[in-house]
Amino acid sequence: MLERYVKRILQARVYDVAKETPLSEARFLSKRLNNNIYIKREDLQPVFSFKLRGAYNAMAQLTQEQRDQGVVTASAGNHAQGLAMSAKQMGVKATIVMPKITPDIKVASVKARGAKVVLKGDAFDEALKYAYQLVEEKGYTYIPPYDHPEVIAGQGTIAMEMLRQHPGDIHAIFVPVGGGGLIAGIASYVKYLRPDIKVIGVEAEDSACLKAALDAGERVVLDQVGIFAEGVAVAQIGEEPFRIAQHFVDGVITVNTDEICAAVKDVFEDTRAVSEPSGALSLAGLKKYAQTEGVENETLICINSGANTNFDRLQHIAERAELGEKREAILAVTIPERPGSFEQFCKTVGRRMVTEFNYRYSDDHHARIFVGVQLKDADDRSELITSLEQADYPVEDLSDNEMAKLHIRHLGGGRNDAVSDEQLFRFEFPERPGALLNFLKNLGQNWNISLFHYRNHGAAYGRVLIGMQVPDGDKQKVAEYLDRIGYRYWDESQNPAYQLFLR
Ligand SMILES: Cc1ncc(COP(=O)(O)O)c(C=O)c1O
Repeated sequence: MLERYVKRILQARVYDVAKETPLSEARFLSKRLNNNIYIKREDLQPVFSFKLRGAYNAMAQLTQEQRDQGVVTASAGNHAQGLAMSAKQMGVKATIVMPKITPDIKVASVKARGAKVVLKGDAFDEALKYAYQLVEEKGYTYIPPYDHPEVIAGQGTIAMEMLRQHPGDIHAIFVPVGGGGLIAGIASYVKYLRPDIKVIGVEAEDSACLKAALDAGERVVLDQVGIFAEGVAVAQIGEEPFRIAQHFVDGVITVNTDEICAAVKDVFEDTRAVSEPSGALSLAGLKKYAQTEGVENETLICINSGANTNFDRLQHIAERAELGEKREAILAVTIPERPGSFEQFCKTVGRRMVTEFNYRYSDDHHARIFVGVQLKDADDRSELITSLEQADYPVEDLSDNEMAKLHIRHLGGGRNDAVSDEQLFRFEFPERPGALLNFLKNLGQNWNISLFHYRNHGAAYGRVLIGMQVPDGDKQKVAEYLDRIGYRYWDESQNPAYQLFLR
């Protein structure tokens, strides 16, 4: 079986459209993990993912008659773009059936490559059914995204390049897995020539269809598939990929969303490329493997398999990256409800940066705050919690609490009629280490704080919203006081959003 695939890979036609991509050394990460880490840069392909290789190779094998009839596929992702570009290059008519919910940006990029787009059905299954109908009705040839020997062979050319680019020792190659076309191609080539190199699949925890199949000894259909890493959101591993993986894949690692986000950041720091979640998946697995297996001074290779991400997803990715790296703790801490206790709390947190601070008055004795703190390393979380408990602050660790991270941070607080004499101020101050503590020190302890919201967004300015209880006679004094401390601020007490949601 291997020899047959190696021959197909060696003969694969991919370079009419695809490039031989560099194998970039990840210097920062190599130093951090004490290994030699390389990233295969498939994000640099003309369609920003490797899928072009398999699609073009499958099309290159068609007869003239099949080409004249045209090709069709169902895909909302990178395969669609790969096929559209391949068809354009060969002068073949291509129809791509996409579910109606496909984002406009993807529809537009497929159209821009000259393919005909048909929007059909609410889910992928319906689009697929319609693509098969077109095969029957119009005589098109269906080009599948992964379950096809020539698609597998096209993706396998990545392994051919990697072994040539790095002829020395390699401990393991990490491969993202969706339907399994990529890992099948890579495993075939690597295991034939260099069986000593481990080939390890990496899957998102909530779409781990290869792991489920390997555990069961047969292909299974997952009940539900998470779509954060949409490029690999596949419910069942392909038949031919599974046949290959069963014999030639050394293991599968699963990673969660936060670990994927942390890997997107690592890819960026080392190569300045912004990968899509599936594109950084194999690096997330590589990191997990190096840490859990205690591997050091070895060569480890992963693949940045794609960079087709929507710009508006980057904010979420950046926010979760710190959690994935275990560099941010999210805590619920109870502190005394009295002037100066915020500042005291920040001192206990020490030199660590406070990344988020949410508080709304609830009673006269205790203040419960939702707080994010940047950590030095994985052990720092327990050190922080211990030092807070020693200072008599009750602490609940919410760092692994999905609901808290997704919703509660935006909902904490709310309306409160019990707060008397409240005035609301919005502040802006230059963001730098220690800026928040400095701000609190300057604010002093003259008035009770009844509301506090701060989130570090990595921007040049830190922004804080504060409610203070200011008796009528003190209003002028507060104004003079705030003017003197020198931060830009606005009185938001009459802001209708405040009146509607916080009063
Ligand atoms: C960016 C990216 N990475 C990885 C994969 C997984 O490839 P395969 O389905 O061949 O396992 C895909 C599939 O579309 C992808 O788009």
